[in-house]
Amino acid sequence: MALPLRPRPFQPGIPALAELPHETWARIGARLRRRPPADLLSYGDSRGYRPLREAVAERLRRTRGVRAVGDQVLIVQGAQQALYLAALLLLDPGDSAWVEDPCYPGLRAALLAAGISVVPVPVDGDGLDVAQARRLCEGARLARVTPSHQSPLGVEMTLCRRLELLDWARQSGAWVVEDDHDSEYRFAGPPLAALQGLDQHGRVIYVGTLSKSLFPSLRLGYLVVPPGLVSAFAAAIAATSRHSPTLEQAQLAEFIAGGHLDRHVRRMRVLYEHRQQVLVAEAARQLGELLDVPPAAAGMHVVGWLPEGMDERALTRVAARRGVSVVSISSTYASRRSPRPGLILGYAGYSDGSIRQGVTRLRRTLHEVLAGSPGVAGP
Ligand SMILES: Cc1ncc(COP(=O)(O)O)c(C=O)c1O
Repeated sequence: MALPLRPRPFQPGIPALAELPHETWARIGARLRRRPPADLLSYGDSRGYRPLREAVAERLRRTRGVRAVGDQVLIVQGAQQALYLAALLLLDPGDSAWVEDPCYPGLRAALLAAGISVVPVPVDGDGLDVAQARRLCEGARLARVTPSHQSPLGVEMTLCRRLELLDWARQSGAWVVEDDHDSEYRFAGPPLAALQGLDQHGRVIYVGTLSKSLFPSLRLGYLVVPPGLVSAFAAAIAATSRHSPTLEQAQLAEFIAGGHLDRHVRRMRVLYEHRQQVLVAEAARQLGELLDVPPAAAGMHVVGWLPEGMDERALTRVAARRGVSVVSISSTYASRRSPRPGLILGYAGYSDGSIRQGVTRLRRTLHEVLAGSPGVAGP
C-alpha cells in the first residue's frame, strides 16, 4: 500500500512540518556531525547537555515567566517521559493523582504505567475544578494540569483557580505538574505566564516539549524542578534511558541560542491563527449547524461540537475512510463519554487547500453518518 504523502487533516497535535526552518536546522546539524567533539559522541550528562539546559532556562524566563536557572532544567524525551518520571519519583504505586477530565489520553497512560490511581477531575470555564477535586480525593499526591491552555478544551485556568491549586499543594505537600505544551501559540495578547512562576513554595514541576514548537519525532522535552529534586530526577533518567541523544541536544542548543526557535514560533503564531480562521470560516460555510466550530484563543486545534445524539464513533471511522483524521472528544474523557458529542480538529499542520478539502470530506462524512449508512462507499 502506498504511504500518504501528506498527513491527513485534521490530526491534532501536528505542527506545520513543511514550514520548519529546514535549511538552518540542517546547517547546524551538518556542522556538528562533520567532526563532532568526543563529548558529543560519548556518554553524556543524565541531566542533559549543559548549553541546552542554559538556553532552555533563559528562554523560559524570558517567554514564560518561569523561575529557572540552567541547573534546574533536565532534558528528557518529551512530555510523556517527563510525566512518567515525575510520577515514578514523587509518588508511590497506589497513590492518587488528579487529572483534568477531559485530557490528552497519553498522559493519563503515563500515570497508569507508573502504578498511579488516576482521579479524573472535571474542567469548567475556569480550568480544573479544585474544590471538586478536593471533594473527590483530598489525599491526592499530585495534580497534572495544562493551566495556560487546557488540552483539549482550550480553557485558560483563572488566577483564582491557580492560587487555589497552589494553596492545596502547599497545605498537603502534594505536587503540581504543569504541562505547558502549546501555550506559545496564543493569538490575542501575549502568552499567559506559567503557573510555575507563581509558586512560592517549590511545589510545581514544569514540563515543556519541542513536539509542538519544532517537531514531535525530535523527542526532546524538558522539566524544570525545584533545586532539591535535580539529583533524584537525574538518577531516574540515568536508570531508565541514561540520557537523551547528545548530538540533537547540541543542535537544538545552537538553534535556540541563535534565536531561530523564537523566530520560528513567532512565524507559526501568525500562520496558525490564519489556519484556524480558514478552518472556522470553512466549517461555518460548508457545515453550518452540523458542526459548530467556535474559534479558540490559542493552540493548534479547535473543538467542533456536533448535534446531540450524533454517533462520534461512526463519524471518526467513516472520516478515516474518507482520508480525514478526526479525534472524538469522548475519547479524551476517562469514562469515554462526553456531555456533548464533538470532534477535535487540528489545523496547524495543514495548508489552506488541505483544510478546505478536509472540511468538504467531513461534510460528506457527516451526511453519510446522518443518513445512517456509514458502510456506504463515498463519492
Ligand atoms: C497535552 C499534551 N502534552 C504534551 C504532548 C506532547 O508530548 P510529547 O512531548 O511526549 O510529544 C501532547 C501531544 O499531543 C499533548 O497533547
